[in-house]
Amino acid sequence: MTLSDFGKKFTERSGILDLMDDLSLALQGSEKKYMLGGGNPAHIPEVQQVFRKRIEEILRTPGALEAMLGNYDSATANASFAEALAALLNSRFGWPIGPENIAVTNGSQTAFFLLFNLFGGRAGYITDTIVQDGSEGGGTRKRDRMQKHNRMQKIVFPLCPEYIGYADQGIYPDQFVSFPSRIEELENGFFKYRVDFNRLEIPKDAGALCVSRPTNPTGNVLTDGEVRELARIAAERGIPLFLDNAYGLPFPKIIFEDVHPYWDENVVFSMSLSKLGLPSVRTGILVARKEIVRAVSAANAIANLANGGIGQILVTPLIRNGEIIRISEEYIYPFYKRRSARTIQWIHEAFPKHLEYRIHKSEGAIFLWIWFKNLRITTKELYEKLKERHVIIVPGEYFFFGLSEPWDHSTQCIRLNYSGPEKDVQRGIEIIAEVAGAYTR
Ligand SMILES: Cc1ncc(COP(=O)(O)O)c(C=O)c1O
Repeated sequence: MTLSDFGKKFTERSGILDLMDDLSLALQGSEKKYMLGGGNPAHIPEVQQVFRKRIEEILRTPGALEAMLGNYDSATANASFAEALAALLNSRFGWPIGPENIAVTNGSQTAFFLLFNLFGGRAGYITDTIVQDGSEGGGTRKRDRMQKHNRMQKIVFPLCPEYIGYADQGIYPDQFVSFPSRIEELENGFFKYRVDFNRLEIPKDAGALCVSRPTNPTGNVLTDGEVRELARIAAERGIPLFLDNAYGLPFPKIIFEDVHPYWDENVVFSMSLSKLGLPSVRTGILVARKEIVRAVSAANAIANLANGGIGQILVTPLIRNGEIIRISEEYIYPFYKRRSARTIQWIHEAFPKHLEYRIHKSEGAIFLWIWFKNLRITTKELYEKLKERHVIIVPGEYFFFGLSEPWDHSTQCIRLNYSGPEKDVQRGIEIIAEVAGAYTR
């Protein structure tokens, strides 16, 4: 088959495809696998119970199931869902928004695909030149369309490493620019990435800034000060700041630091139902000014026709009655906080000292990010060796896209998802300790 440039770029092997393949691999065969890769959220029984009850309620209500399954929903957002969510964000954070500020997509992954290509990529100003046609009435006609400029509008990531799922989403290969974070070593074998504002030079042709907060893969949470500074820089340049809040507030609240969510007219704040425990309903949410909501839903209608309504209909009453906040605070947050601490403990117990490992301070999300300072092999090679032992992790290399120069650090880190069954996570860590220990300098 003869593919277009788009076809070629989007069918090459990508990190996110490897990751999703590994996820399905874990479900195949009879051999025990230790699944510390992928981004599946934990199955928390109390939370599952709430969704089960809600589905039972839909089944009991005459016509509700048929309405949920039998109609196309909007390409923007389900009206009741958008109203309920805007009211919640308004009352909790005082954001001056209404339902017209909410756009839904089939997962926030899709939202970012649309955003990156609406605001990034080839951008020419096509202008029509109007000339007199010489007729008596002074009529005019359009002359040829003139392409005045042709430039590559960039999406800028100020905190690299960043989410693997962004890496291949640009239609053009040179659409993304990242800046290496500053590494701050902390006490007790921890470290933290900071935005290196001294090195952050926003290119002239930037179309948007983007950060995930909490950050996938590292569990970093940008401070309120860092977010305000990024918002200021974006506003000064007249470009939007995308704040990816897939793990943050007000739900699912997998965030362990006392920070505040941020929104202004220049910010596109994204949320997702996935990490609540509903990845399969594919519901992503953007909070943005009306103009951006309209642009996203126009592109969404072309690519997706409509959004799936199941997730929105499932959670709307839970947003209205505050249940979504209650399950986030009472079950989801404590589960991940406790599990993160235990996983760190297992790592300290299992990892030999000569590994010279550091752990990124766990401030949120469902991952631990480990930096091996003393490994003889790259983390991609380590990933292959671990796979032979049936342990799946994600090698760090994929998260360092868009850099202008090579960075040694990019081959020294791995991401572990710590939300799976306890015994699997603990045993997986013991195997990592053995394998990595054998390849240490
Ligand atoms: C930071 C971040 N953004 C976006 C997504 C996409 O999530 P979804 O498409 O399930 O909403 C993920 C998934 O893991 C993520 O970690």
